[in-house]
Amino acid sequence: MDKKDLFAHKSKSWDMNSMRVQNARSIAEKILDNIKITPEMEIMDLGAGTGLLSYFIAPHAASITAVDNSPSMLEEFKSKSPEFGCETRVMEIDFAHDPIEATFDGIISSMTIHHIEDIEQLFARLHSALNPGGFIALADLDSEDGSFHSDNTGVFHHGFDRNVLESAALKAGFGDIAFETAHTINKPHRDFSIFLMMAKRG
Ligand SMILES: C[S@@+](CC[C@H](N)C(=O)[O-])C[C@H]1O[C@@H](n2cnc3c(N)ncnc32)[C@H](O)[C@@H]1O
Repeated sequence: MDKKDLFAHKSKSWDMNSMRVQNARSIAEKILDNIKITPEMEIMDLGAGTGLLSYFIAPHAASITAVDNSPSMLEEFKSKSPEFGCETRVMEIDFAHDPIEATFDGIISSMTIHHIEDIEQLFARLHSALNPGGFIALADLDSEDGSFHSDNTGVFHHGFDRNVLESAALKAGFGDIAFETAHTINKPHRDFSIFLMMAKRG
């Protein structure tokens, strides 16, 4: 298995990009508008990176566990953890392959699932990492033409067809599946819409 840290060259400057911060803020607002996150909830942020999404959700939860396979991104997350509004933990694992030895009340994620090749397996793993009644709130690109990233290394999906994600989630046992458009990222050559997919473990 390739253990290369694909984000090592970006981690230090990740948060300096205001487009990323605004995207995370919009996704967090959409999550909080639609899902009741309560002070006893243990939340996982899948592909948390430096913690842009975690930061906005933290004040509403008991804890956030940052799951990520990039040690450099997790270093940035850890350096900021005293500023988060709840307890934080980090788990350096590849969510696509490594065992997950905890369960959560909710799993949030921003701009990560396009890095995970097998989507049916992803939803099965999300399902087994949730407590009964737990939720997922996953944000990523709607289907795009491959021009969002200037370098597509480690990118397995050029965005997603919402119907394909819904089918995979139903197959894994999720219910109450809903989508919202959380944000639009304006790049000089075109706009990219970002969905928020929400579902509950049945
Ligand atoms: C585009 S970044 C998004 C980071 C953060 N969520 C944000 O919105 O700023 C994708 C993150 O997912 C992580 N990632 C990619 N594949 C992963 C996997 N298989 N398991 C765990 N983390 C993964 C990367 O290391 C990176 O930190």
